[in-house]
Amino acid sequence: MVFVNYGGGGYWFFQHAPWNGLTVADLVMPWFVFIIGASVMLAFSSMRRKGVSWQQLLRKVTWRTIVLVLIGFCFMNYSPRDGLWQITPPVSCVSWSWLRFPGVLQRLGFTYFVLALMQTFSSHKEVPLREHHWWNPVQDIFLYWAEWLFIGLLETAWLCLTFLLPVPNCPTGYLGAGGIGDNGLFPNCTGGAAAFIDKWFFGDNMFRFPSCKVLYHTTEPFDPEGVLGTINSIVIGFFGMQILCLNV
Ligand SMILES: *[C@@H]1O[C@H](CO)[C@@H](O)[C@H](O)[C@H]1NC(C)=O
Repeated sequence: MVFVNYGGGGYWFFQHAPWNGLTVADLVMPWFVFIIGASVMLAFSSMRRKGVSWQQLLRKVTWRTIVLVLIGFCFMNYSPRDGLWQITPPVSCVSWSWLRFPGVLQRLGFTYFVLALMQTFSSHKEVPLREHHWWNPVQDIFLYWAEWLFIGLLETAWLCLTFLLPVPNCPTGYLGAGGIGDNGLFPNCTGGAAAFIDKWFFGDNMFRFPSCKVLYHTTEPFDPEGVLGTINSIVIGFFGMQILCLNV
């Protein structure tokens, strides 16, 4: 992540895709979130086996989330108005209008919070070793049906908001970069519903130099760590949890 953030040695595949596309650099964050899910499963199973109460777990989870969000907000806060953000990072916590509310650590912290809460309040699963059921091949899904239901509802909310939310002056369900993309028809629609929701939450305090800015000449702010995308982070982290669920 550090290597990619400081230019990736100039190789194109260590740069983020401007909008559409996928490079090595784009895979780092999703896999990291996936690993968070797997670690939550490992850590929480072991703590629950040791008899740590849910109140203690809750206190631990809340504290860690607050620390992550605060570190992200106060120390890694690439200013939304500073075009040189890659060269001069932490100028934040000095002026309100220079603050960016969302961020990588904020997203990781919030994702961790939701995953850890799911693990804290899910009933402890014992895999029946000798019993034979028709559903044995998919028992990870059957044992965790409540979690899958929750994740399904979250993802449905993401789909509905992304594709059905009316955004003023933009086509509903727009997924493009705006700017000069799509023949310049929707210059102010960068990020569609996701950006619309972020502007409602954060106003001007969001990322102003998204990687689509150069190629698509966009003028609107777009935050890659916005609110709506957090849903998909949680879903990816949940897959990480599921990978380990039957082995611990
Ligand atoms: C986009 O926003 C700019 C600045 O707010 C405005 O001048 C322009 O008319 C808008 N373009 C469209 C197509 O809405």
